Amino acid sequence: MTDQLIARRDFAVAASVSWWRDAVIYQIYPRSFADANGDGIGDLPGIRSRLPYLRELGIDAVWLSPFYASPQADAGYDVADYRTVDPVFGTLADAEGLIGDAHDLGLRVIVDLVPNHSSDQHEWFRRAIAEGPGSPFRERYHFRPGRGADGELPPNDWPSIFGGPAWTRAANPDGSPGEWYLHLFAPEQPDFNWDHPAVADEFRTILRFWLDLGVDGFRIDVAHGLVKAQGLPDLGVETQWHLLDVGVSPCFDRDGVHDIYRSWRRILDEYPGERIAVAEAWAPTLERVAAYVRPDELHQAFNFSYLGTAWNAAEQRRMIDASLAAMRAVGAPATWTLSNHDVVRHTTRLLQAGEGEDGEVAGRRPTEVDPAAGLRRARAASLLLLALPGAAYLYQGEELGLPEVVDLPPEVRQDPAFHRATGQDGYRDGCRVPIPWHGDRAPYGFGPEGGPSWLPQPESWARLSVAAQQGEPGSTLSLYRAALAVRRSHPGLGAVDDLRWVEAGEGVLAFDRDGFRCTVNMSAEPVRIARPGDVLLASGPTEADPDTVVLPPDTTVWWNV
Ligand code: GLC
Repeated sequence: MTDQLIARRDFAVAASVSWWRDAVIYQIYPRSFADANGDGIGDLPGIRSRLPYLRELGIDAVWLSPFYASPQADAGYDVADYRTVDPVFGTLADAEGLIGDAHDLGLRVIVDLVPNHSSDQHEWFRRAIAEGPGSPFRERYHFRPGRGADGELPPNDWPSIFGGPAWTRAANPDGSPGEWYLHLFAPEQPDFNWDHPAVADEFRTILRFWLDLGVDGFRIDVAHGLVKAQGLPDLGVETQWHLLDVGVSPCFDRDGVHDIYRSWRRILDEYPGERIAVAEAWAPTLERVAAYVRPDELHQAFNFSYLGTAWNAAEQRRMIDASLAAMRAVGAPATWTLSNHDVVRHTTRLLQAGEGEDGEVAGRRPTEVDPAAGLRRARAASLLLLALPGAAYLYQGEELGLPEVVDLPPEVRQDPAFHRATGQDGYRDGCRVPIPWHGDRAPYGFGPEGGPSWLPQPESWARLSVAAQQGEPGSTLSLYRAALAVRRSHPGLGAVDDLRWVEAGEGVLAFDRDGFRCTVNMSAEPVRIARPGDVLLASGPTEADPDTVVLPPDTTVWWNV
């Protein structure tokens, strides 16, 4: 990046655009980021101590996966108390301190909200169980008598995402088998009944609680799940992944969810500074996803269709166009993401065969790929992602080029789906291995020297640590830092939805934005192209003569044009 380019930064324009429309938002998975107290699990003080690193990386905001009071049956996505920090992660004062420190550094903070289900240890659910059938607290969840002569069969055929039936039979207070309750995920995650006014009231209060504490937004977990079809009719398919085949599902993406988000938007808009919400909504089409980000609803929705798109120029172009068109139709920015805590890290995933179908993204056992080839492709993909109009979501460790850990022994795995025969594959621990910060031996600065880490880190991670990559010109960390710096300073890389394709030959993706071009060689062969301008950044080595540049396979170049 040149000094001239920095000087061209147009602050007036930047200030007039809503911050979230082109923000780079970095997902922190708290248990795996930094462990200040040495118990082997990351915590809020650990995150606080690493905020300067994130500031230097050049992101705009962090999204924190749940850190609330929880028995951790699903790594915190089973919340027992929405207003308390789990002691494993720290205290409410730590959360406040973290938000304050982040703001002082110019970083915004987005927290996770889990409204589809609570923990089975949530006070309401405990009372529902303890008080037995007829308890008013049962109405806040979905309790039903079973089918069959003795109620021994689940009330309907819904499978859990994590495998097995989506119903568990509760014991009556006298110990006899009683009603069943619904859980689209683990049995420890009973689904709320969103038709009950107390549930809606409670979540409005929770939103305000965290907004008052200063958070800048929310990531809405399972945003497509809150409302179920009246009468809870049978689904008629074997696994939840067939949701996309059945089109209209009785348990997901019901039209009624949108009323909830309209009411939340009114609350967000009461607060100064553009507080936002981003939906985790697995809907059957991009148009259905776009419905969550209509002007009076949420601000953004994750683009899982893009995440699941194969590394293929034609497919990528089609999906980028479709994503931009769907979001343009409702005036929302597109979002782009390649990795998160539920999917195989893209350093590994993009080289695995058979990608492309959304339902498969999380449902495949990851396999080892050639590390160099995986990294080369991931770097090219990340530079492409960061050049697209809209908001970009990064997942901790991708800036280090971390691969998926594919060989965790069964006894250390904690994904609740791992021990189930059907459902989601249960291999999500491989992307959740704690971050290497420095040093030659585990835990590589994740926690105190010689201390534990809740998942073992591979030996090969010494050379992927932050310290090992810091200041190294060719490192992935340096590439991300440079890319984020260019993205902030180049006038063509703002929120404006102005992408224009350039024909560049078979297997090559190229597009222009204002004064900017991105070229990606997705083919298996090197390609020689005429130089369109000066190279701003390249994901890997290129060969150049005065007029042409050769891009090896899996290489992205950013140009100033
Ligand atoms: C979301 C979370 C995932 C969790 C599930 C149930 O998909 O991202 O980690 O297991 O919801 O809360």
